[in-house]
Amino acid sequence: MVATFLNAVEATRRQIISAGYILLNRWKNPLECRCQNRVRGKVVVITGATSGIGRFTAFDLARKGALVYLAGRSREAGATVVREVTQATGNRDVHFLPLDLTEFSSIVTFVQEFLRCEEKLDVLVNNAAVFHHPPKQTQHNLEIVFQTNYLGVFLLSSLLLDTLRHTPNSQLIFVSSEAHRLVSLKDVETFDPREAVHAENFDDHIKLYGISKLALRIFAQFVAESFPGILVTEVNPGNVWTPIYRHAWLSWRDMLKRLLCSLLMQDVQEGAQPLIHALNSSSLQSGIYLSDILQAEGRPGYDPAVTQRLLAASVELTGKYLDGTPKEIYNFI
Ligand SMILES: NC(=O)c1ccc[n+]([C@@H]2O[C@H](COP(=O)([O-])OP(=O)(O)OC[C@H]3O[C@@H](n4cnc5c(N)ncnc54)[C@H](OP(=O)(O)O)[C@@H]3O)[C@@H](O)[C@H]2O)c1
Repeated sequence: MVATFLNAVEATRRQIISAGYILLNRWKNPLECRCQNRVRGKVVVITGATSGIGRFTAFDLARKGALVYLAGRSREAGATVVREVTQATGNRDVHFLPLDLTEFSSIVTFVQEFLRCEEKLDVLVNNAAVFHHPPKQTQHNLEIVFQTNYLGVFLLSSLLLDTLRHTPNSQLIFVSSEAHRLVSLKDVETFDPREAVHAENFDDHIKLYGISKLALRIFAQFVAESFPGILVTEVNPGNVWTPIYRHAWLSWRDMLKRLLCSLLMQDVQEGAQPLIHALNSSSLQSGIYLSDILQAEGRPGYDPAVTQRLLAASVELTGKYLDGTPKEIYNFI
């Protein structure tokens, strides 16, 4: 009885702290990017463009005259977004190409299709991700959050690196998350995506997500250091009420939290501003992490030995599924 009461008090305390944190972030991040348009005429690929921040950014890119490739796993949702974007902006250079980050062959096919249409790539926006996903191993027997948010992005970016390298002033953007600060390099090193993870509560899910986003940061920093010719930018949208939370806080005990989040979190327009700023600002240095349009953090300088071990494991986990795809795509590691 006493234990139940104390648990309820603890749960309420945590909900209040979380709500305070979300509110604080919202006040800290009220700014809108007013940079001059720097995307007109650029070829931009944006993943996860069928929903949330990616979808909002696709409208902004099209309005500014970019040639946009929307990448997503649902053809139907993709066709709808293309139609909506074209109608709203008048830009007819908006296309959809299917991409499922949980399927390595789909990533290879996406890149082949894209390269059949375009010779250059000015900007690749790695935006797609999942959070709080019901526990699942993909068809490659890899943990789904880690594969979607990191391994799939690692493969997609590796396949497109050569094209980015040969496009003058190209940019590679990774949409990150503050959740990466909740885990350590050791967590990333000891995580084995081949083992099923039974995430049971919010803390388990945020740890899993944090590991995938820290791995992504390590890769982003490696690319920034290895390829000075590509502008690498990491972006943190803040807390944004989007379908990414579709599986979170569904139990009756979490209903208050869900309600507060839906009311207090930023909307997509606000949450997309750091990404829109990354796309349009003329004063970014490679390797920075943008939390809002005023705050840019310098390079974190991860341990090179950890980076090498992560990259070697990533090559091993993705490479063996690349039937017929030249392994030279990994020569840069
Ligand atoms: N919202 C936040 O509070 C928040 C905070 C920090 C960071 N972020 C980051 O912001 C980015 C955008 O998230 P969001 O909030 O806009 O979420 P969202 O609305 O759920 O959008 C995520 C997109 O990723 C796509 N996606 C998921 N799994 C995929 C797969 N296997 N293959 C290809 N595409 C896949 C989704 O496609 P479907 O439409 O088919 O599901 C969707 O278009 C993510 O990187 C996220 O980690 C968000």
